[in-house]
Amino acid sequence: MKTETYARVLFAGPDLNHGSFAELTRRQFAEQFGTAVLGDLFDTDAGYDQLWEQVRECLHGEELPLLLVDLDPLGGSPQLDWLRGELQALAGERADRLFVCAGNAEDVTALADLIQQPEKHLGCVEVPQLPESHSWSCIPPHRYRVLLCNGPRCTRRGALPLWKLLREELKAVGRLETENGVHITRTQCQFPCDQGPTLSVYPSGEWYRIRDAAEVRRLVQERFVEELAVPELIMRG
Ligand code: FES
Repeated sequence: MKTETYARVLFAGPDLNHGSFAELTRRQFAEQFGTAVLGDLFDTDAGYDQLWEQVRECLHGEELPLLLVDLDPLGGSPQLDWLRGELQALAGERADRLFVCAGNAEDVTALADLIQQPEKHLGCVEVPQLPESHSWSCIPPHRYRVLLCNGPRCTRRGALPLWKLLREELKAVGRLETENGVHITRTQCQFPCDQGPTLSVYPSGEWYRIRDAAEVRRLVQERFVEELAVPELIMRG
């Protein structure tokens, strides 16, 4: 798609091609931006090769400036810096014509506003270098490994925004990738779909069903801050 500011806007993130979440997302994008936008969605579950190929085509065809919207709900700052670095490497001297921002695929109205606000977009020159020892170069400190189901049925039950909130809440209380905290891993179907969204905790081997924001906040506070059991959120056996 194009805007007044950008000759091309591309979107990249997980779950954009297959499954219920993808179906809903693609429908909402088409209604908000027109059906042509569907050709500008790149599902990163399949890797980034197709996205980079499209960026190369845009560079070759002088479709610039270009904006890449990162839709990964768990992306964060390292992901954005990594994307900026990759785009910088692809564009070379034209890196000043490439921009990125992070958006929420579930709120296309806010996404449309974000795209119209270049002051909220980051350029791809002078990208902060990842330090020699950074979060992608070593095992992060953690006490718990939490597996978040991103399978089709949990996603349909609202897992992605709940997992985004979980990450934010853990970070807010200092329990995200800290010595006494949680390391998060996204998974495909963990099988008790009908009780989901499914979240399992290791090494204790607990299985939780988290159905709304209140349950996310309760789990964070009681299980990971107070370190108490939360039997009301445990799945049936
Ligand atoms: S889709 Fe989450 S447990 Fe099956």
